[in-house]
Parts: sequence; C-alpha cells; structure tokens
Amino acid sequence: MVAISNIRHLKTKQKSIAQLATPNYQYIDLPKLDEISTVIMRYLPEDIKKYTVFKSLPEKQFALCKPLVEAVETIRPWNDIYYIAMIAVAPHDKMPTHIDWDMKDNPYSLNIPIFNCDKTPSVFYKLKDENCKPKVVYQDHGDPFYYYESDQTEELERFYLTKAAFFNTQVPHSALNTTDKARIMISVRFKTPLKF
Ligand SMILES: [Fe+2]
Repeated sequence: MVAISNIRHLKTKQKSIAQLATPNYQYIDLPKLDEISTVIMRYLPEDIKKYTVFKSLPEKQFALCKPLVEAVETIRPWNDIYYIAMIAVAPHDKMPTHIDWDMKDNPYSLNIPIFNCDKTPSVFYKLKDENCKPKVVYQDHGDPFYYYESDQTEELERFYLTKAAFFNTQVPHSALNTTDKARIMISVRFKTPLKF
C-alpha cells in the first residue's frame, strides 16, 4: 500500500512539473503600457473597433510607435519580430476557440493590452478528447484558421490582460467580451522562440 501511494504521488508531481514547463501564460513587467495604448488607439482604424478580427501586420507599420519599440526591445531586438497581430473582439462577442496555426514551433507570443482588456478575459480550454482534431476554415487571405466547437472543449482557466504577458498560442484559447466597448490588444510574434 505504501508503495502504491508513493507512485501516485510521483505521478502527480511529474505532471505539475510538466505543466510548469509550458504555462498557458505568464505576466511580465513591460514598461510604457499607457503610452503604447495611447499611440495605438490614436492611429487605430475605426472599423477595427466594430468587428471581431485578427489582422497580422508587418512590424514596420508599428516602427514609429516609439514606446512600443522601446518596450519590445526590453525583451528582444525589434528586428526579431516576425509580425504583429492586431486583435479585436467586438462588444458582446467572443473570439472562437482556436489555436494559432503558424506558431507550432514557436508557441509563445508577447500579448500587450491596448483597450478594455482588464474587463474582458482570455480563456484557455482543454480538449474533452485529447485525440480531437481542430476544424479548419480558410480565410479570405488564404491562411487557415484552426478552431474547436464549444462541445469539444471545457474551460481550463481564464485571466485578464491587466499587464503584458507571454501567451501560449498552442493551447486552445478564446477571448470573451461581455462589455459595451471593443476589446483591443496586440500580439507580437518573434522569429526565434521566446524562452523564460
Ligand atoms: Fe490566438
């Protein structure tokens, strides 16, 4: 009996170490958040506040946002950026549960709150059946979007982007907005994997 209980203990311990090795997210202290938000909101197209949208943009479109460049460079050189995604969730809408198709070998992004992220959670899910594969639709620009139906997943945890965070894009995730305002964030994706 003693031996069995030890084995169980060991298994539990191993699992928690594995989970720690790949956390779903980790808050980081990124400077100049208020300044970044002010500049991005000033230049944000009005349309993006009305729709739930993921738009990938070349880093050069953000290069004149000085506080963003300075903040990112506390993590990585600016020229290590692969692209920056502008992600909006419209009022009273939900980002479909998905995994990011192009981040398989480089799972973590640097997510930065821009507007209304302290009242609208990011949510991580686990698959009810680990062998379940995501469904795929192809978007107008040709990129695939891998998503799960709500009955394929159950909520694992949720958190509020009250500060910047490294975010595991390979765990099924979504963002919920039950407020009357848009939720806006940017997600910086690097050429070389983030390690922390
Ligand atoms: Fe995503």
